[in-house]
Amino acid sequence: MRIFITGWKGQLGQALQQALCDECVAGCDLPEVDITDRTAITRAIAEFAPDAVIHAAAWTDVDGCARNPGRAFRVNVMGTRNVGHACSRINAAVVYISTNEVFDGSASEPYRESDPPQAINPYGQTKADGEWFLRRLLAEHYIVRTAWLYAPNGRNFPHRIVELADERGALRVVSDEVSNPTYAPDLAAALAALIHTGAYGVYHLVNEGYCSRYDFARAILRLSGREHVPVEPIALADFERASTPPPFAPLANTAAAALGIVLRPWEEALEEFVRQKTQPDE
Ligand SMILES: NC(=O)c1ccc[n+]([C@@H]2O[C@H](COP(=O)([O-])OP(=O)(O)OC[C@H]3O[C@@H](n4cnc5c(N)ncnc54)[C@H](OP(=O)(O)O)[C@@H]3O)[C@@H](O)[C@H]2O)c1
Repeated sequence: MRIFITGWKGQLGQALQQALCDECVAGCDLPEVDITDRTAITRAIAEFAPDAVIHAAAWTDVDGCARNPGRAFRVNVMGTRNVGHACSRINAAVVYISTNEVFDGSASEPYRESDPPQAINPYGQTKADGEWFLRRLLAEHYIVRTAWLYAPNGRNFPHRIVELADERGALRVVSDEVSNPTYAPDLAAALAALIHTGAYGVYHLVNEGYCSRYDFARAILRLSGREHVPVEPIALADFERASTPPPFAPLANTAAAALGIVLRPWEEALEEFVRQKTQPDE
């Protein structure tokens, strides 16, 4: 298959390049190609003539999106619309990477693929709007929602926890924000399987199980040999930030599971991530 990846220097983009090494893959990212430049992204996609485009590029700074919703709209909504137009012109399928933040977090059970999006912050709203455009532009779409992504190459929650633990020696972490920590290489492998099914639709792809940010931080510290670092659980309401995260927004993988695509439990994936990070370079 010929597969084009937007955002291919990002956490997921790099994991996809590895997971799709048996396919014919190309991609783009900033600064070379800006998805808000319709001509540039249309040309980049058309020149490669892919069978499918995995659209992973986004402005993922959730607090930045809350401070500058205009920029969030340009990148996450108009940029996604541009990618959708480019795909429909050449009959390429699209795999759009969306987020658990399209939900409001008021549920008591993990969200299923059929639950209606109801975002409560600008990042979540722009990602939900991106879904809306792609549904209307292309019948051949996979909308794949994921959550709390981390990868060896990225700036993400596990990196930040370790950094803060070493800097401050003690942490305060919210215990009432809950979702699924998801290891980007596991998501990439699941996407590599999904893209061959032709079973278009909405999917929730996350590592199995869910936890609070507090539990996630404790697991990171334990696995990285920092169990002695004290962590105080705090409430979302006590943590001032620009964006309002959905409090309880884990995702349930029911659609991909029906196709036999399931990710391992988040604890196992985190263990592998930490082991790889702490291995001395050969
Ligand atoms: N990270 C998470 O926890 C999480 C959770 C759920 C869903 N997602 C979704 O998963 C996807 C991948 O996330 P990720 O963690 O891999 O994100 P990431 O590491 O931030 O990668 C996104 C890439 O997109 C690029 N980009 C930003 N604006 C662009 C533009 N205007 N034109 C072209 N490229 C642009 C970024 O470049 P710069 O770095 O130069 O800005 C970056 O290389 C995103 O669609 C995100 O919404 C992420």
